[in-house]
Amino acid sequence: MAILAPSILSADLSNLAQQIRLTEMGGADWIHCDVMDGHFVPNLTFGPIVVDAVKRSTHLPVDVHLMIKDPDKLLENFVKAGANYITVHYEAAAHLNRTINRIKELGCKAGVSINPATPVQSLEDIAEYADLILLMSVNPGFGGQSFIPNVLKKIHELVELRKKLHAKFLIEIDGGIDNKTIQPALKAGIDVFVAGSSIFKADNITAATAELKNILKANG
Ligand code: DX5
Ligand code: ZN
Repeated sequence: MAILAPSILSADLSNLAQQIRLTEMGGADWIHCDVMDGHFVPNLTFGPIVVDAVKRSTHLPVDVHLMIKDPDKLLENFVKAGANYITVHYEAAAHLNRTINRIKELGCKAGVSINPATPVQSLEDIAEYADLILLMSVNPGFGGQSFIPNVLKKIHELVELRKKLHAKFLIEIDGGIDNKTIQPALKAGIDVFVAGSSIFKADNITAATAELKNILKANG
């Protein structure tokens, strides 16, 4: 069954452990952490110390999405903080093959993300080395944006590329996922769904998590 990864970007950080617990009660599978540097994206969020706090609040895998330039120098800090998956951006890493290898050497699963305007073909020479490919369905930087429908075509292209390469990476989607957009993305072949505002801005976080989880269960 597909995996649901609530993004703490939209959570009440003054109550982080409790907010994570509410998603666990609704059936969350991973916890997604959005790290932003104010350079690669126009927003700033948090770094390894918050990832460490997330790790100590949950037994679920911690999925770290680095929206930062030159991620190499911070990889070790995020691994030490407890990341299980570290995803870097294709557009932000100058030597992506080296970065992927380094993440794996540090004992972590390695992901590569592409922005909405970056074609799937850019991944031809790196995808087979990745454990996960993250397709952005909004321009990264902020929660609460609308899903960009053209990503559906990219999901199909990525599923084809995975077949062609005989690769096993998971395909993750991030941005604008709610009880309407989750279904077409699932049909197109997504394995991992990130959802921020549709979970944490809901009146009932546990019920909102369970609603998305039930859609995945019913269709998986
Ligand atoms: C966007 C982040 C997302 C974000 C998704 O830059 O990478 O993970 O939290 O938020 P929603 O689900 O609100 O679009
Ligand atoms: Zn993210």
